Amino acid sequence: MITGGAGFIGSHVVRLFVNKYPEYLVVNLDALTYAGNLENLRDIESAPNYVFEKADITDQKTISQLFEKYEFDAVIHLAAESHVDRSIIDPLAFVKTNVLGTASLLNVSLGFWKKNMNDKLFYHVSTDEVYGSLGEKGFFTETTAYDPRSPYSASKASSDHFVMAYYHTYGLPVVLSNCSNNYGSHHFPEKLIPLLINNIKKNKPLPIYGKGENIRDWLWVNDHARAIDTIFHTGKKGEKYNIGGFNEWKNIDLVHLLCRIMDKKLGRKEGDSAKLITFVKDRAGHDMRYAIDASKLNKELGWKPSLQFEEGLEKTVDWYLANEEWIDHVTSGNYQHYYDQQYEKR
Ligand code: NAD
Ligand code: TYD
Repeated sequence: MITGGAGFIGSHVVRLFVNKYPEYLVVNLDALTYAGNLENLRDIESAPNYVFEKADITDQKTISQLFEKYEFDAVIHLAAESHVDRSIIDPLAFVKTNVLGTASLLNVSLGFWKKNMNDKLFYHVSTDEVYGSLGEKGFFTETTAYDPRSPYSASKASSDHFVMAYYHTYGLPVVLSNCSNNYGSHHFPEKLIPLLINNIKKNKPLPIYGKGENIRDWLWVNDHARAIDTIFHTGKKGEKYNIGGFNEWKNIDLVHLLCRIMDKKLGRKEGDSAKLITFVKDRAGHDMRYAIDASKLNKELGWKPSLQFEEGLEKTVDWYLANEEWIDHVTSGNYQHYYDQQYEKR
């Protein structure tokens, strides 16, 4: 079972597993919130080893029925509320899905697996944001103390703690990974990169929080999916692995790079798109810098990113320009309401 498979990262993980492992039956369990979109999986939806089940991870009864039906031997758990700005507007929705939902899944998994834990695995997908915010120097390692500062990262940190608690207390076989910011195709345009691509294309202002000095480490989503595949198959039970792109960017530098790529792709004069940059009120509690040390994953399991950032960004821009229908669908309806609420008063 892969939870959250209709979302951004989940859809890449589902696609990779369905295509690479025809001998696995992949059950994609997703509640199809605003962020879940079955269009993300159109290319594999009729594969014989793929099934979709619409369900909410907080609904233990339905999840139990699905465990009965499919006898899952592994769970890769990605379903979550995932956007920091939304967590500032509605923190309890994050507690419900990320904390209660994860604890419910752990509980049902334990109930079904406790007689025989051999060859079972609960893989929890988490974020580097649980570690808090860095100054100019240093990196997050697997032993960095948790110090979450947004409702989103607090809810993810809590879910991580429950995963480790089920390992230590009940012996549930678990593995956990904490990844940096992803970018790539099928990314919902509330997050920085797809929002900028969409706005540049439409000649709309590019809202940059504060002075644009915050730093993120960016990883191509397909490389995250490859890392999940590696950890799922070769990671040590009870261990956690950091995943990162070795690729730190200040937001303002990133937006300029993206504007240059978009000018070229759209046949605009160099500098035209950058005129859309608009500095807006900063995010409350905005973490300054994330930087991840992914050397454990590299040394122990041999994973490393496959793509340079500029190449990955170009591929991403190409995908958005070639998939206007996708962006039109996801930005119709509630998206506009969220956008107005988030940016109108800034
Ligand atoms: P996303 O918001 O694009 O997708 C989340 C998916 O979960 C959606 O399909 C949604 O319908 C589903 N979902 C939400 N609530 C649910 C519920 N109660 N029951 C069942 N399904 C539900 O998120 P994403 O960016 O793909 O992130 C996936 C996971 O990876 C999350 O756990 C996130 O914390 C983690 N992560 C994300 C990033 C990133 O840069 N996006 C980085 C590191 C880790
Ligand atoms: P985001 O994509 O929301 O990821 P996260 O906050 O989880 O790292 O934001 C990435 C960075 O971009 C972060 O420093 C906040 C900033 N940002 C903006 O400046 N403007 C925006 O409109 C958004 C959505 C983010």
